Amino acid sequence: MRIPANKNLANKHVLLGVTGSIAAYKAAELVRRLRKGGAEVRVVLSAGGAEFVTPLTFQALSGNPLHSELLDTGAEAAMGHIELARWADAVVVAPASANVIARLAQGRADDLLAAVCLATEAPVAVAPAMNQQMWAHAATQDNLRKLRERGVHQFGPAAGDQACGESGLGRMLEAADITRHTAELFDTGALTGLRVLITAGPTREAIDPLRYLSNRSSGRMGYAVAQAAVEAGARVILISGPTALATPPRVERIDVRSAQDMHEAALSRAPGADIFIATAAVADYRPAAPAQQKIKKNTDTLTLQLTRNPDILADVAALPDGPFTVGFAAETEKLLEHAGEKLARKKLDMIAANHVGEGKGFEAEENALSVFDASGVIELPQAPKTQLARQLIALIAERYHPGS
Ligand code: PMT
Repeated sequence: MRIPANKNLANKHVLLGVTGSIAAYKAAELVRRLRKGGAEVRVVLSAGGAEFVTPLTFQALSGNPLHSELLDTGAEAAMGHIELARWADAVVVAPASANVIARLAQGRADDLLAAVCLATEAPVAVAPAMNQQMWAHAATQDNLRKLRERGVHQFGPAAGDQACGESGLGRMLEAADITRHTAELFDTGALTGLRVLITAGPTREAIDPLRYLSNRSSGRMGYAVAQAAVEAGARVILISGPTALATPPRVERIDVRSAQDMHEAALSRAPGADIFIATAAVADYRPAAPAQQKIKKNTDTLTLQLTRNPDILADVAALPDGPFTVGFAAETEKLLEHAGEKLARKKLDMIAANHVGEGKGFEAEENALSVFDASGVIELPQAPKTQLARQLIALIAERYHPGS
């Protein structure tokens, strides 16, 4: 099956829970399809699941070590249940036996899969697989209702002939259908039809043909925001300073180097944008007169005269009928005070403030944001930048469509 372009799994981390059911053999095909769609897959095999399929099958197909033990010191040291829960962009339990559905409904944490499902903030989905009588039993239906009420997604089941010789509802969906539903988890639709312009990464300000002034921005935060905006249905243009990152799928990327280049690229596109998000770490100053030739080291000291760069965010926010503007504030101290001042001075609709320095904010895989607008502050606690970006996009969508 080809996954439709608008239902993309590329770069997503899918944690697949395989539990005790004859349908466990179909999970091998599911791993293959999820990976073909671009996802990275890790498999947690329950004790019941291991009765039907071998750990080696999943290790080979997923390209990652298999996870099965909750209380194994070696496994916990490598990637324990909390790390797995944080790693996952989605947890899909397929097949989900009647037993695991009951255990998840009870909120048990006595095996690895159940503990991960409790600890994760990612969407969780179950693909039930069981005998039709077990499926129809009031206990199973009650358990599933509980899970759905808590936001757990349910994929299937289908009806048909069963391994036990009976026929009816309870067959696990085919791997192709589960793959499609998993991809759909990432399409929130909150920004459908909107045009979102994003700046990301550092800028480089030339000193001479070989040297420049720059900063530690990796671009991760901005690229994650671009990916989350695409998942939400937006058309995204990403204006990026130099980074080592791959362009997220379905994002149009414009490469720039200096703050002036970024300013020109952003101001020329902002009038067509509905939302502008400035995650870039733009150099505030640039060398006033970059040397045309390599500067020679024939003096003991060297003084660089710097001149102010244009403020891209403030200029976009000042456009008549300009887009909804979201700034970032990178602060080493007095986070709330400085971010509040920037929100007011640059006349922004929203600002996301982060602590930077000492390994925080810049370059790191994780971040934490305090998001401000006229109505107050919302704290987004430390999480992978991909996850934070989705939360930020959900907040932006809420403010952009008030009352919806
Ligand atoms: O790229 P990563 O390694 O993932 O790191 C992410 C990050 C720390 C760079 C990011 O989360 C972040 O904080 N980005 C903003 C960095 C910054 O320059 O903050 P600032 O407080 O100096 O600027 C305030 C806002 O004005 C920012 O939205 C900035 O993009 C914008 N600005 C600043 C100066 C300028 N000349 N033009 C601008 O548009």
